[in-house]
Amino acid sequence: MASLTVRQIDESVKKRLRLRAARNGRSMEDEIRVLLREAAEDAGRDAPDLTEPPNRAANAARRNPAAVPANTKRILLIVGGGIAAYKSLDLIRRLKERGIHVRCILTKAAQQFITPLSVGAITGGHVFTDLFDPAHEFDVGHIRLARETDLVVVAPATADLMAKMANGRADDLATAVLLATRAKVLIAPAMNTQMWAAKATQRNLARLIADGIATVGPNEGEMAEANERGLGRMAEPLEIAAAAGRLLAPQERPLAGKRVVLTSGPTHEPIDPVRYIANRSSGKQGHAIAAAAAAAGADVTLVSGPVTIADPPGVRVVHVESARDMLAAVEKALPADVAIFAAAVADWRVAHAGTQKIKKAPGAKTPDLTLTENPDILSTIAHRAKDRPHLVIGFAAETQNVIANAKSKLARKGCDWILANDVSPATGIMGGDRNTVSLVSQDGVEDWPPQSKEDVARMLVARIVSYLIPPPLAGEGGERSEPGGGRLRSD
Ligand SMILES: Cc1cc2nc3c(=O)[nH]c(=O)nc-3n(C[C@H](O)[C@H](O)[C@H](O)COP(=O)(O)O)c2cc1C
Repeated sequence: MASLTVRQIDESVKKRLRLRAARNGRSMEDEIRVLLREAAEDAGRDAPDLTEPPNRAANAARRNPAAVPANTKRILLIVGGGIAAYKSLDLIRRLKERGIHVRCILTKAAQQFITPLSVGAITGGHVFTDLFDPAHEFDVGHIRLARETDLVVVAPATADLMAKMANGRADDLATAVLLATRAKVLIAPAMNTQMWAAKATQRNLARLIADGIATVGPNEGEMAEANERGLGRMAEPLEIAAAAGRLLAPQERPLAGKRVVLTSGPTHEPIDPVRYIANRSSGKQGHAIAAAAAAAGADVTLVSGPVTIADPPGVRVVHVESARDMLAAVEKALPADVAIFAAAVADWRVAHAGTQKIKKAPGAKTPDLTLTENPDILSTIAHRAKDRPHLVIGFAAETQNVIANAKSKLARKGCDWILANDVSPATGIMGGDRNTVSLVSQDGVEDWPPQSKEDVARMLVARIVSYLIPPPLAGEGGERSEPGGGRLRSD
């Protein structure tokens, strides 16, 4: 078949073609291909073997990402239909500045906020919008789009996209690609404060995190709605580009080869087969530490009390109920380099738990519950003569005299560090998503800033890394660096 160049087409046809191509988010050459294919299909013939237009290299690169220079990182950016979609144009620029090759999918709703034309102008390539676009399926296909990328970034991630992702929906190009990809996925949620706080959104977020999806933001600030402020603004393009950069970088695994055993959550101490004594621990902090240690390459065993949150990814989890079961599971998991005791273990259990349900009989005496002391897991492990982990870390959840109590606990229990926090109801720490802790050790007290439980976990893992694998000292008297910016005081 003879080749046809766009230059050879009549000016008025060219103008109409240009408009049609822009409307469909395609290049002129692609639009001509689609027209020819449609014409051939209308005529009942097979799709013609379309010749390459003259800009063969550009088209080859678009269709065959292998044509993207070797070592170039590739990101597939999915833009959802939120008010923050305009920021994704800047995000593309920031990613390209880092030498990253960017392909883009716009959801149908996203096209209400930005056009494929403007996105295509910045990416310099085709913008994908339709799952059932025959040209796109012929050229690239949603499975190839999903596969030929190192990272998928969803920005803005609408409440709707998060809900679809959490439930494995695949009813448009964006969600089909998200379900089909094996690449890492980073979402930058952006929505109204109430939408973000909604139970359904938080449920979806928890499920996505448990599925190994990375998140950046949202931030706090002004909302699009007049006089509204709060959590829900999309992270800034530079923050998203930095988070993407971290995920694309070869994973640092400083704890590779190290074994970490952790406890998390509450314990349940039976009164009888149906009743138990428990506490308000959610397990969020302990589980976050397990996930951060696993992300740093450690071989992690998490001994978890009864919690309603998901098991962290990449972690061996042993589910237990009582303090005695928890101690037995920890001892079984030894030897370990590091032991972290974040569980809220009941100090006492019922001395003689009923083997049958205790019945309330008319006129009968209210039963007395005699309590007996539970084993002290932290102290037992810290005082082990054999197999004592190199670093034993406890938590001190206090409601008063937090630091003084943590210091006496450090001495009493024989552990190396205590992470002390104030769990008075007013702090919202018990069951909440944020934490304010102080690291108490023989060196003094280090106050960490208020932060998410995930950030506390990352900061603790960074401290463990520098303890186990100390950085070379510049010289005697050289300053010791405290990762994460904690303040050290010696009181
Ligand atoms: C003006 C306007 C702004 C919107 N902004 C947001 C937003 O910031 N975040 C969000 O989750 N949904 C927002 N929505 C609702 C989404 O557009 C809607 O849920 C849509 O179905 C999302 O589709 P998608 O997830 O396929 O992109 C907005 C809707 C309108 C009309």
